[in-house]
Amino acid sequence: MDKCSRCKTEEKPLFRLKNLNMLVCSQCFASYYEKKVKNTVLKYGMLNGVRRLALAVSGGKDSMALARALLEVFPSIKFTIIHLNLGIPNYSDECQEIVEKFCKEYSIELLLYDLKKYNGYSIYDFGNIKSKKRVCGVCGTVKRYLMNKIAYENGFDTIATGHNLDDIVEILFNLYINGSIEELVRIKPVSSSTHSKIVRKIKPLIEMTDREDLYYAISRNLNYVSSECPLVKGSRMINRKKLILKIEEEIPNFKYLLLKTHLKRFLPMLEEYVLPPTLRECEDCGMPSINTVCSFCKLSSKILKLVENN
Ligand code: AMP
Ligand code: FES
Ligand code: ZN
Repeated sequence: MDKCSRCKTEEKPLFRLKNLNMLVCSQCFASYYEKKVKNTVLKYGMLNGVRRLALAVSGGKDSMALARALLEVFPSIKFTIIHLNLGIPNYSDECQEIVEKFCKEYSIELLLYDLKKYNGYSIYDFGNIKSKKRVCGVCGTVKRYLMNKIAYENGFDTIATGHNLDDIVEILFNLYINGSIEELVRIKPVSSSTHSKIVRKIKPLIEMTDREDLYYAISRNLNYVSSECPLVKGSRMINRKKLILKIEEEIPNFKYLLLKTHLKRFLPMLEEYVLPPTLRECEDCGMPSINTVCSFCKLSSKILKLVENN
């Protein structure tokens, strides 16, 4: 049987540490991953001054890995998990069940939010409607708004998400291609609060790859939703992620280099020249917005109308 290059334990399967080109056992992989998450959190001062921390956990491998790693690395830091049930048949209930089990096992407080129950529509309802908007874009707007609102209304000062290096590079790639400067300036490991109703956001997995999250979930025997969201099939986002992996085959470490260049070279300049938008309170919900009515409220009333007419 193969031996771990670090501790010489015989185990199958072994996990590849790509940058170090080593094969290691599950315990050594978990230690490597947790150390890397800890270093990222400390490097960007993610937990500095945090009084009440919330984690947005979907039940997928990334956010489950995030929750498990934080328990291990910062055992004295208490957090609450926020989970949104998006109402996608079978899929959303499976996600919720996994998150509920995890919270029970580790005695973590859980805030559950049911989109259909509180807002009268689900992401699945939207997926069934013929619309120019793409379902993933709509889902993203809904998730971002609700996660912030729930965290704000429950008194959290920081919310952590499981966005990893592959997610961020896919977003950067798209934003640079389109020259979306106002959005590029917001892509960073720590997004400070810019309004009393906007909760500070952190991304502790920003330097971890998709594969590392997956290996960690396996090495720590985590339950996670392994199936992809059924509405996401054929999405541009997935195709772009595949393309980026191909680029990385030709340019080793491409993803990390792009992130580093963005953070060190472009972001400081962008932050100097791109002024933060002036925010007012949405006439409908009172949350911060650039326009009189926020994008979530606009979207919700459109979806509700479409659902009623279908
Ligand atoms: P995604 O937008 O699906 O790539 O997810 C990015 C991050 O948002 C995840 O790693 C989670 O932290 C969070 N997230 C996504 N979906 C949910 C959900 N249904 N409930 C809570 N958090 C979520
Ligand atoms: Fe958002 Fe599937 S989870 S479209
Ligand atoms: Zn609103």
